[in-house]
Amino acid sequence: MENFIEFRNVTKRFDDFVALDHVSLSIPRGSFVTLLGPSGCGKTTLLRQLAGFAEPEEGDILIEGRRMNGLPPYKRNTPLVFQEYALFPHMTVYENISYGLKLQKAPKEEMDRRVAEMLEMFNLTGLEKRFPKQLSGGQQQRVAFARALIMGQKILLLDEPLSNLDAKLRVEVRTELRQLQQRLQITAIYVTHDQDEALSMSDIIAVMRKGRIEQLGTPWDIYFRPVSRFVADFVGTVNFLPCVVEKKEGKSLTVRYHQQKLTFDTEVDLRPGERCTVVVRPECMTVRPEHAGEGQLVGEIQNYSFLGRYIRYWIRCNDQTLIVDDSNPGLTGAISGRVRLSLDLPKLHVLKDVGNAPD
Ligand SMILES: Nc1ncnc2c1ncn2[C@@H]1O[C@H](COP(=O)(O)OP(=O)(O)O)[C@@H](O)[C@H]1O
Ligand SMILES: [Mg+2]
Repeated sequence: MENFIEFRNVTKRFDDFVALDHVSLSIPRGSFVTLLGPSGCGKTTLLRQLAGFAEPEEGDILIEGRRMNGLPPYKRNTPLVFQEYALFPHMTVYENISYGLKLQKAPKEEMDRRVAEMLEMFNLTGLEKRFPKQLSGGQQQRVAFARALIMGQKILLLDEPLSNLDAKLRVEVRTELRQLQQRLQITAIYVTHDQDEALSMSDIIAVMRKGRIEQLGTPWDIYFRPVSRFVADFVGTVNFLPCVVEKKEGKSLTVRYHQQKLTFDTEVDLRPGERCTVVVRPECMTVRPEHAGEGQLVGEIQNYSFLGRYIRYWIRCNDQTLIVDDSNPGLTGAISGRVRLSLDLPKLHVLKDVGNAPD
């Protein structure tokens, strides 16, 4: 696929501190790419280099093969929407949305037409005479999107735009935003520290850590095939089973976890006798009372938390506590006492231990 937006070896320093460390990233046209990572890992800094609000010390930034370095923000056509909606408080919705057109001295009829399209698209029709403070948080955020896109831009940069909204509204707006991005074929770069947002909206996720991209992949890659403990842990809840390799034949790997052997396929290169870590998501294990007799591991329930659509169990197994989610809770209560655990073998993933110690 063609590289629409490209970061090549971008390095940004603040005095001695390296905020971006030789970041390279290629973004195909029309895709939704999310920069995901903990606070301070460099997400906003990377976005600001592309928008032109800051300049990297090293490296190039290209849009459609054109080098952007040194160009002011208004020449890049990369509108940025962030958490503080930054609407003009003394202007109406109409005036806010049409601001860019007005600067260009567009005729009144054209402004009316384009604003009406935006109002319709963002479900804001009828609100054009209101001021920002007379709108809900979700409506204000939609006005900010409309203002960003009224000039027909094909790139939209979003820096944690939903953080100020309550949980239910966030889910609503993120679904709308994704549909709109697909419909208008906009290339979106979205910054968040929220794994659900990243998984549910993105074509591609770049997991960032300390100014670098640690993993680039589809939501499925990132969730089921993390390259490190850091990624596995950041993107969801996870269990790490310390294991030793028994044998590897082609893709088929057999490891020993305490007394139990586990066999599954992997691309990871491992040698017999090598230590490794098997990564298991909580929903990739099934828990049954011990007398049911099936399952590779035996454990004892320590605690549980009933969440309606699933029960989360904490289960003592060997010398660790495993987290297991049962997505089909019984009508009257949780399981207790000694249990057996079945592992969904095709969903197991393995990490080499070398250079991958816990933080
Ligand atoms: N203007 C600045 N001056 C000094 N340090 C900065 C500046 N902007 C960001 N930083 C630092 O760079 C790191 C990355 O910041 P940022 O990109 O905002 O992180 P994120 O958006 O991932 O939370 C942080 O440690 C932050 O303190
Ligand atoms: Mg930030």
